[in-house]
Amino acid sequence: MSQPILSVQELHCHYLTRHHTIRAVDGVSFDLFPNEILGIIGESGSGKSTLAHSLIGQLNSFTQICEGNILFKDRSIKTFSEKDWQQLRGRHIGIIFQSAEASFNPTMTIGQHIVEALLIHQQCNRQNARLHAINSLKMVGMPNPDKIMQCYPFELSGGMCQRAALALAMSLQPQLLIADEPTASLDIVAQSEIVLLLNNLREQFGLTMVIISHDLGLVARLADKIAVMADGKILEMSTTEQILTSPSHDYTKSLLTSMPPFDIN
Ligand SMILES: Nc1ncnc2c1ncn2[C@@H]1O[C@H](COP(=O)(O)OP(=O)(O)OP(=O)(O)O)[C@@H](O)[C@H]1O
Ligand SMILES: [Mg+2]
Repeated sequence: MSQPILSVQELHCHYLTRHHTIRAVDGVSFDLFPNEILGIIGESGSGKSTLAHSLIGQLNSFTQICEGNILFKDRSIKTFSEKDWQQLRGRHIGIIFQSAEASFNPTMTIGQHIVEALLIHQQCNRQNARLHAINSLKMVGMPNPDKIMQCYPFELSGGMCQRAALALAMSLQPQLLIADEPTASLDIVAQSEIVLLLNNLREQFGLTMVIISHDLGLVARLADKIAVMADGKILEMSTTEQILTSPSHDYTKSLLTSMPPFDIN
C-alpha cells in the first residue's frame, strides 16, 4: 500500500479561555492515502473546523495549544518554517473555509486573488497567470469567467462564491484539498452541482480530499471513508459503506435514522 499523504497522530487542540479550557480536538488520529476522500461529520461544535485549521498550521495563536503530530508526506509539521507553511498552504494543500467569503479579501476582485496567488506560488508572468485564472474559473463551471474576474466577492451569490473559492484553491493544483462545509447555505441544486464538481476534480486530477460537513448524506456521496466526530474525538471511522450499513456507535445510528433516504450511487 502507498504511503499516507497525511497522517494525523493523537492530535489535541485546545482553546484557553479566561475561565476554562475547551478541548476542541481531543486525541484525533487518522491516515489519508493519495486519491482518497475522507469525510468528517459531526454536530456543531464537535471540533471539525479546528481540526481543519490545524492541518494548515493556523492554530499558532497564544490561545491554543496543540499536541500530537501531523505528518504531511512523512514530514512532521513540527519541523516546518513559516516559509514551508506558506508553500504548503498554497501549493500543496488547498483549503475552502467554512464561510467561502473568508477565503477572500473584500477589497480585491476574484481575478486579483487568483492572479496574485499564481504569481506568488508559480513561476509565471501576469498574462499567463490571468489566462490560468480564467481557466480555473471555467474548470469549476463558473459562467462568464471574464466578467467574474472583475467582480468583488460581495457581488457574488453564495453558490458562485463557493465556486470562486474552489477555483482559487484549485488554481495552484494542490495535492490535498480540504473543504470545510463546502455546500453550507446553498440550495439543493447548487449542493448537487458542488458534489458533482468535487467528484470530477478528484477523477481528473487524482485529488486527495478532506470533506467536512454536518450532513452525512452529502459526505456519503463523496467520501471513501467517514470519521464521525463528537466532543473533539473520533467516535468511529470506517468505509462509507460500513458507516451507512452497520454503524457501531449510537450517535452514528441516530444520524442515520434522521437522514432522508437516498441512493449512494
Ligand atoms: N477561537 C475560539 N476560541 C475559543 N473557543 C473556540 C474557538 N473556535 C472554536 N471554539 C470552540 O471549539 C469547539 C469546536 O469548534 P469548531 O468550530 O471546531 O466546531 P465545528 O465542528 O466546526 O462546528 P460547526 O459545525 O458549527 O462549524 C467549540 O466548542 C467552539 O465553541
Ligand atoms: Mg465548523
